[in-house]
Amino acid sequence: MRSREDEQVELLKDDALMVRLRAAIERRRPMVDSGDATALRLVHDAADGVSGIVVEKFERVLVVQHHEGRAAAELDRLKAAIESLMESIGVESVYLKRFVRDRSASGDADDAHRGATPWLGTPADEEFAIREGGMAFLIRPYDGFSTGLFLEHRDNRARIRSMAQGKVVLNLFAYTCGFSIAALSGGAEEVTSVDLSARYLEWGRRNFAANELDAEGHRFIRDDAMKFYERARRQERDYDLIVIDPPTFARIKKPKGVFVLADQIDDVLVGAVDRLRPGGTILFATNDRRLNRKVVEAAFHSATAQRKIQNIEWTALPGDFQGDPDYARSVLVKIR
Ligand SMILES: C[S@@+](CC[C@H](N)C(=O)[O-])C[C@H]1O[C@@H](n2cnc3c(N)ncnc32)[C@H](O)[C@@H]1O
Repeated sequence: MRSREDEQVELLKDDALMVRLRAAIERRRPMVDSGDATALRLVHDAADGVSGIVVEKFERVLVVQHHEGRAAAELDRLKAAIESLMESIGVESVYLKRFVRDRSASGDADDAHRGATPWLGTPADEEFAIREGGMAFLIRPYDGFSTGLFLEHRDNRARIRSMAQGKVVLNLFAYTCGFSIAALSGGAEEVTSVDLSARYLEWGRRNFAANELDAEGHRFIRDDAMKFYERARRQERDYDLIVIDPPTFARIKKPKGVFVLADQIDDVLVGAVDRLRPGGTILFATNDRRLNRKVVEAAFHSATAQRKIQNIEWTALPGDFQGDPDYARSVLVKIR
């Protein structure tokens, strides 16, 4: 199978690059103007005719991704184009995230993205809040590749918020606790956030504070998700709502190992179903292109063999992520 990295990309001429970037930005203008969210994806890769280029706006800061090998423009051309658009988009700083083909040749790629000096414009604050449907999320524009928020989950966060009232919620692979904030904003009774990274959980605690949510009474657990299931089972803890947004691949330091979602999806779902109260709901999300709807539904059916699936609903991506049906998928599964 040909990977996306193998695709032959024709470089766009300057005019075409500008036309496509402008069109992508204009398409999102109503979303930007509505002010519902102050962080949006303005340019979405091949879906906007600019393969390998992604532009996200966080308040007055742009974060531009350039994926070497499949990018429709070389870096210097992209830089000139972005510079000429900065004023009309209303941004003061632009940070570049370079995804190089051969990471081994470029040292620690994450470390290369930690400088405060922007690619264009003036340095931004190290950490600042964006607003999304009345919630606040802290963004760090030069903290490696991470910015702190996955924008494709905006509508999923709103959905979790709308169904969280009075619920006991588990947020697995919680990262900076975006779904935990959404659940608590929607009146969840108790939220447990689980992630391998203490640093991301700490960022999550700051997100609680940014939303004036009291972290007291909620749990932040630094652990491997699969180990957490065992612990929760021993402690007889169960949940009304479980959010699972695992990475496609991750290295685990202690004990040394790897997490490969495509190999472990059955265990991930079996563990969640085991901890789900009758009538509870699981939100499962993935951007592993191999895990299409058929594969995910089959995994849910096999994980729920002893129970009954009441409803399966695939959620839609937000408006700024349209145009690439395989980009990421999320499903809400209600189980008796
Ligand atoms: C795709 S991000 C999750 C995004 C998050 N749900 C959100 O919406 O902001 C994946 C997260 O999983 C964590 N992680 C990776 N492997 C893990 C494991 N085996 N157990 C628990 N967390 C893990 C990473 O530290 C990272 O924060």
